[in-house]
Amino acid sequence: MAGESTTYVHHPVMVREIEAIFGKVPPGVVVDATVGGGGHAAVVLQAHPHLSVIGLDQDGSALEAAAARLQPFGDRVTLRRSRFDQMSAIVHDLGYGKVAGVLFDLGVSSPQLDLPSRGFSYRNDGPLDMRMDERQPRTAADVVNGYEEGELARVLRELGDERFAPRIAKAIVAARPLETTGQLADVVRSAIPAGARRTGGHPAKRSFQAIRIEVNEELTTLGDTIDGAVDLLQPRGRIAVLAYHSGEDRIVKDRLRNAETGGCVCPPGLPCVCGATPKVKLLRKGARKPTVAEVSANPRAESARLRAAERLEDAA
Ligand SMILES: C[S@@+](CC[C@H](N)C(=O)[O-])C[C@H]1O[C@@H](n2cnc3c(N)ncnc32)[C@H](O)[C@@H]1O
Repeated sequence: MAGESTTYVHHPVMVREIEAIFGKVPPGVVVDATVGGGGHAAVVLQAHPHLSVIGLDQDGSALEAAAARLQPFGDRVTLRRSRFDQMSAIVHDLGYGKVAGVLFDLGVSSPQLDLPSRGFSYRNDGPLDMRMDERQPRTAADVVNGYEEGELARVLRELGDERFAPRIAKAIVAARPLETTGQLADVVRSAIPAGARRTGGHPAKRSFQAIRIEVNEELTTLGDTIDGAVDLLQPRGRIAVLAYHSGEDRIVKDRLRNAETGGCVCPPGLPCVCGATPKVKLLRKGARKPTVAEVSANPRAESARLRAAERLEDAA
């Protein structure tokens, strides 16, 4: 798009917390499953000379930015363009058995949101795209113009927690074909009752989030990938996950909790007799949130929830 900046600027979230988590792992390789522009990876590599990084991302421009940012760390860095559900296969292809850590910083990067040509933005007009991986065939236009009304309403409700999902879906269907993010934002705004438009940020925020998650199938493989990451960890290796909305965080919480109990089905408070073997201990019970100071410096940190766990010495 004319005049569009190609500089990749993304301020990584909760960096001191991530740095501290991976300071305590044994020497080895950390998989940054969503390396983006390499901000977290650079912090980990800088602070912890005993670690190297395998960085994955499905977005080609993110990987280019990561390659430039992480170039000073030389052969301590290996980057692959891939979805994170391929993590175990990539780690094994690179000749590693187990890893010292896995980091997920889920969701979108600032450049994806900010560049109008990527079509994620409800603030800047662009094509209805929203693909993190531009090699994938399905775009936001396919969802917005192709889904049946009921299916569209389900996406908006389940992936965006949008309480006006049926009204918005109906308005989108009536306005078809939609071609740009600006048109979509206008249709969503006008479908929301005037009184409700004044609360909860931009009126199109939830709908855009929902369509983006649908286009990129963001929740489809997350749970199984977290299970796979737990199984890749060497003893005392750690997994850390930053999630940015409730649907993501629920999956992270459930999968880490399941790894903590080993899937135990015994009644709470009674000794385990079902044979479950715990795999990890949680580093803390609930999710950590960014500090007030971080949120005021970087408003995109606001919804971040960090959960982390450590692989037990004697896990099966
Ligand atoms: C919040 S950004 C990560 C930013 C990074 N931590 C940094 O410091 O620059 C999330 C990144 O994850 C990538 N991503 C999201 N889902 C993915 C998936 N399933 N597989 C691979 N990459 C994914 C996005 O393309 C995006 O670049």
